[in-house]
Amino acid sequence: MSEIPALSRRDFLSTGAKLGAVVATAPYVSRAAEAGAAKGADTINVALIGCGEEGRILSNASLNIPGIRFQAVCDIWPYNLTRTERLLKKFNHAARPFEDYKEMLDTVKDVDAVLIATPDFMHAEQTNHALKLGKHVYCEKLMSNTVEGARSMVRAARDAKKLLQVGHQRRSNPRYQHARDKLIRGQRLLGRITNITGQWNRAVSEDYGYPNGSAIPEAKLNKYGYANMHEFRNWRWFRKYAGGPVSDLGAHQIDIYNWMLGANPRLCIASGGVDYYKSHEWYDNAFIIFEYETKDGVIRAQYQVLTTTSAGGGYHEYFMGDEGALKMSENPKYTKIYREARAPEWDALVEKGLISKPDSGEGAPAAVKAWEKPGVKKLGGPSRGATVDVRETAALSAWDIPVTLDKAIHQPHLENFFDAIRKGTPLSCPADEAFASAVTVLKVNEAIAARQALAFKPEDFIA
Ligand SMILES: NC(=O)c1ccc[n+]([C@@H]2O[C@H](COP(=O)([O-])OP(=O)(O)OC[C@H]3O[C@@H](n4cnc5c(N)ncnc54)[C@H](O)[C@@H]3O)[C@@H](O)[C@H]2O)c1
Repeated sequence: MSEIPALSRRDFLSTGAKLGAVVATAPYVSRAAEAGAAKGADTINVALIGCGEEGRILSNASLNIPGIRFQAVCDIWPYNLTRTERLLKKFNHAARPFEDYKEMLDTVKDVDAVLIATPDFMHAEQTNHALKLGKHVYCEKLMSNTVEGARSMVRAARDAKKLLQVGHQRRSNPRYQHARDKLIRGQRLLGRITNITGQWNRAVSEDYGYPNGSAIPEAKLNKYGYANMHEFRNWRWFRKYAGGPVSDLGAHQIDIYNWMLGANPRLCIASGGVDYYKSHEWYDNAFIIFEYETKDGVIRAQYQVLTTTSAGGGYHEYFMGDEGALKMSENPKYTKIYREARAPEWDALVEKGLISKPDSGEGAPAAVKAWEKPGVKKLGGPSRGATVDVRETAALSAWDIPVTLDKAIHQPHLENFFDAIRKGTPLSCPADEAFASAVTVLKVNEAIAARQALAFKPEDFIA
């Protein structure tokens, strides 16, 4: 639960929202255009800090949400600033461009909420400044590249009595919510959860460059904390700015481990290294084990992030129990729920619309037959003549989750943030919960460096 009180509508209105007409729903383009033109009831005036890849994804998704008006955008790189300003202009949002976020917030007073999508090392400073000025903040993950930074953000939100949503967007995804609330907690389809595995396996990627003529002068880069253009573009891989793949990719899924279980781990063991990209500073691959202690018993959770191979099925979180298993991914094609033969029948749940039977394809019940009849099997090949016990024969049957996301993947999380401002809806990822995830994630890099198991104390997760 968030320690930050939800705002009443009166509180919201006092932050600067104006009264007037409500924006009607309509197809994407016209809706976006209307949103830009609207000055109506429940209008939320927004400023964006950081107009890179994610900043543009957040802008695009926000353009689909009625009543959101971009008033200002900020980026230190003119190349990205101009691109985003133009995108917004196309949809009738006359957002004023700024290089300096402080100047932006001093100049454009009528801003209710700030979206932050800058490199992780800037999150605490920018979030805390905006909160102090009385703005609600949606800040991208990882909350901060340091525990102290993340803690300061929780405290700043608490002191300002403003909302701070952190960008772990899976928490607002209706498929994830259905899986957690209805299937795992409601129906207990996995039985007792005993283990988790998860991964993000990604093929080799080149470093980012920049278009000719777009380089930021070195003195200006230094002023904003960057050593040079290469580090500015590839900040994820350098210690000063971020936490490497463990925090860049792993943060999403490790957050989901905590969220699904409603628990934080007690121990972290990890191994990783700078084994492939020799010019990078952060570990390019890591294998991690967390131990959780829950009221149902101990859960061991493995996670891997690999950046040199896409083999092994992309990215997913796999929750395994004694009656079933749930494979979740932001990509619906990697999502399935499996029933162990020993579990109670699930057919009635299909009628209730909680799960569905896949018609065909990988994982369809017909394709998941018993491996062998119980007994002893003679092996062929090099082991010819040897025998093996094949008693682990009970088949898993595969089922689908009949909940789809028919929007951009970040949109529900932004909607949740804006609904929290307008109506007091609880945030999906409030600062105190995001803090616990940041503590969990940042411990991994520490455990890799220490080459030993590191324990968490319950108070580590409290800001
Ligand atoms: N939720 C998700 O799925 C998701 C996906 C990608 C990135 N992210 C997060 O979004 C953030 C940004 O990532 P990205 O991929 O867009 O990176 P990016 O490098 O593409 O963009 C970062 C932008 O911030 C700007 N910037 C840097 N310092 C600034 C400053 N001091 N003031 C104003 N602007 C500044 C840069 O010029 C750049 O345009 C990171 O925290 C990242 O972890 C989240």
